[in-house]
Amino acid sequence: MNASDSIDPELATPRYHHLLVTGGAGFLGSNFVRFVLTRFPDVRVTVLDALTYAGKRENLAGLTDGTAARLHFVHGDIRDAALVDALLERDRIDAIVHYAAESHNDNAIYGPEPFIDTNVKGTFVLLEAARRYHLRFHHISTDEVYGDLPLDASTARERFTEESPYRPSSPYSASKASSDMLVRAWHRTYGLPVTITNCSNNYGPYQHVEKFIPRQITNILTGRRAKLYGTGLNVRDWIHVEDQCAAVWEVLNRGRAGETYLIGADGERNNREVLGEILRALGREPDDYETVADRPGHDRRYAIDAGKLMSELGWRPQHRDFSEGLAATVEWYRTHEEWWRGDKEATEAAAARRGQ
Ligand code: NAD
Ligand code: TYD
Repeated sequence: MNASDSIDPELATPRYHHLLVTGGAGFLGSNFVRFVLTRFPDVRVTVLDALTYAGKRENLAGLTDGTAARLHFVHGDIRDAALVDALLERDRIDAIVHYAAESHNDNAIYGPEPFIDTNVKGTFVLLEAARRYHLRFHHISTDEVYGDLPLDASTARERFTEESPYRPSSPYSASKASSDMLVRAWHRTYGLPVTITNCSNNYGPYQHVEKFIPRQITNILTGRRAKLYGTGLNVRDWIHVEDQCAAVWEVLNRGRAGETYLIGADGERNNREVLGEILRALGREPDDYETVADRPGHDRRYAIDAGKLMSELGWRPQHRDFSEGLAATVEWYRTHEEWWRGDKEATEAAAARRGQ
């Protein structure tokens, strides 16, 4: 099979051929870069990534020769305006897909400054560069900008839509909301062709062990107990990372400038339910976990109505069976210990300092 045979028939044909993907060595960004390079033989990708604790160069390793030749990796910071300009010029970039961010809520609670620096200032630097070079700009954001929904049964049908008011409740979500506001303003004031996607919680390979699902899997694999914050009844709306990649691809290539699209796959589950599935997949008893200190300000429930993305762009999630996707993710962590082992001790030490 050659590369072009692997293009899923329903995916948009590329409108941009030289992408700058920021944060392309992180969880979502590296999955997106693989997604693009393996499906679209006429698209080149320049990755700009600072390789913080959350980024790994090897997340982009293992591509075939023909595919890797279309990847240019640059170790650098999105706040470095001169570097960004030089890359846009040298690689004749025609669109920026902006994934780079400080992304973990717990880190933001105990040290918010890098979140303001990277998520707000970094986005500003990129928007200004996009304005200078007249580039298409796609901003990756989160459903957390809308705050949270109540947990009571009478509001179970309530979900976030593109019209929901911004009500961020944590330092992380406030920094992402700020960056979204900048993107919207650069469209309205300067006419920059922007789109924004606000996505729910992703799961899948290459997610850092600080996040809920990988942390529980690797706790169990290293002989620790799983750790549930508070009551464990908080609800997240899970989506497989590949479905997020396809949605971003559609919005980048066919979305309307100035528009926001919510991405979600009807994957609502509370944390206890998700943990129950992880324990089962690893052959543990259902009560083999401990509850630990709750997250301050812990958002109760996120739920996405992805109707606009579906009706306007025809996107549909392909990973519809959460249990199957989660079991495959457990298996990936089980067979990729060399990928996460080096991060595990420091991550657990930091959590222990927070009583978590
Ligand atoms: P991640 O923490 O796994 O990766 C972030 C990447 O950005 C890392 O490779 C890191 O090295 C890089 N980075 C950080 N600061 C940088 C800087 N100043 N300059 C250049 N690179 C820098 O994060 P993720 O989970 O992949 O999230 C990526 C994006 O998606 C973020 O914008 C996040 O808000 C958004 N998002 C994530 C989820 C999710 O479930 N993970 C859901 C919705 C939205
Ligand atoms: P997380 O993966 O940090 O994502 P987010 O804060 O963006 O939703 O957490 C997902 C949920 O899991 C959230 O409700 C907090 C909870 N959680 C735990 O119960 N235990 C843990 O060890 C972690 C990291 C998170």
